[in-house]
Amino acid sequence: MAFARADARRRRSVVKAARPTPRPKTPRRNSRGRSALAGPRSTESTPQARNGRVAASRAVHERIGQQLREARAGTDALFALVGDDWLYERPIPERHRLVFYLGHLEAFDWNLLCRDGLGLKPFDPELDRLFAFGIDPSEGAGPKDSAADWPALAIVRRYGERARAALDDALARGAFSGRLSEPAPDDAGAVDLAIEHRLMHAETLAYLLHQLPGHAKAPGPLPAPPPPAPPRRSVEVAAGRARLGRERSDDSFAWDNEYAAHDVHVPAFAIDSRNVTNGEYLRFVEAGGYADSSLWSPEAWRSRQVAATVHPWYWVKRDGGWRYKAMFGEVPLGDSWPVYVSHAEAKAYARWRGLALPTEAQYHRAAFGAPGAPRSYPWGEATPTSRHGVFGFSGFDPEAVGSHPEGDTPEGVSDLVGNGWEWTASPFEPFPGFTPLAAYPGYSADFFDGAHFVLKGGSPRTAIRLLRRSFRNWFQPLYPYTYATFRCVEARG
Ligand SMILES: [Fe+2]
Repeated sequence: MAFARADARRRRSVVKAARPTPRPKTPRRNSRGRSALAGPRSTESTPQARNGRVAASRAVHERIGQQLREARAGTDALFALVGDDWLYERPIPERHRLVFYLGHLEAFDWNLLCRDGLGLKPFDPELDRLFAFGIDPSEGAGPKDSAADWPALAIVRRYGERARAALDDALARGAFSGRLSEPAPDDAGAVDLAIEHRLMHAETLAYLLHQLPGHAKAPGPLPAPPPPAPPRRSVEVAAGRARLGRERSDDSFAWDNEYAAHDVHVPAFAIDSRNVTNGEYLRFVEAGGYADSSLWSPEAWRSRQVAATVHPWYWVKRDGGWRYKAMFGEVPLGDSWPVYVSHAEAKAYARWRGLALPTEAQYHRAAFGAPGAPRSYPWGEATPTSRHGVFGFSGFDPEAVGSHPEGDTPEGVSDLVGNGWEWTASPFEPFPGFTPLAAYPGYSADFFDGAHFVLKGGSPRTAIRLLRRSFRNWFQPLYPYTYATFRCVEARG
């Protein structure tokens, strides 16, 4: 039910995160005690050289400031979907209440860029700490705070306004170094880091809002009944090398877990030409897949029994028929939409078919070809557009599998990017040569625990800049809320 949460007398929170996400490290300081994020001192040799550097720095500040404003507009629009009364709800038991994210996005930017990066004096250290940490607890270890533990919205919004104003002011006066958008891992990519952090939250916020009932949100479009799925083919992929990871010479921002580039030998295999659909997964459900313990890991089986899970999270049965929990309301289950499931559910289905989930290396080989002539995207080098797939905040719900053939690989494998992240069989692990980000050392390293699996590709709510070949996503295997689907592979020879 709705809460009345506008009470400005709300006491300050004593909430503690059950499992903090990494705390951005205080940036390195040079021998003069200045932050590595701070702009250059006026020691240039000539006025012309100085003017050139200032102009270049200003252009970078303006460009990156615009990207930050666009990212903010995206997350602002998401919060505007729900009334204030709902912002103290916790739509997903393993995550914070929504109000946390309202403060977190601003606290993250302020802490990283202004407080630690530029050494600005904190104006509310208590909220800096409160909103610094997200959580990703193991099953059954979710947070226990109450709504009354959190500050009033007026306080949170005022904090956010001050944090934004400070950052905007710093960008306007060119306070950061001219290398703002150059690649991590180093402190110079910190504004890009903040932008991508916000864009990732724009997606995970959608998962959270998705779990609220339709009447909690502003009206939005419901997906229409989809056309039938194209036939599923098995596409042969010859043995050869796959190139994973990112070259350190690449000249744009990337996260630490994307480095370093390396090749992996991949034996021959066959891969489904498209994702498993709701209609296909329904046959697994109706065949008793959720009642066959031999298809599930012991942990997944135990969890399935405790939660009495008998179908995907995004499905609901009404009056004997299956319906789909779309973002803005329930609709008849679209047979040809990719099924959104947990890793455990995807793996059980693959076993039922006598197949497996692709490894991260198999995904790369199918999506991007051989290292000698790798493609930037499954379809080639063209910049991603709505012609190539379902991504870039195009909508909140999936479309029929295979509905964007311009995004297929040359071999005819569809939707390897977009329309739902692709679960892989690979645990989230560091690549050889991994070095933690200086500005955010725990971003990846805290999750190299064998309890998370890699996802590749993207969903309807994934920002276009995150569709790059080296980007890796990861979630726990029992987490059912991600817009994540899968396809199957079979080893050859
Ligand atoms: Fe975060």
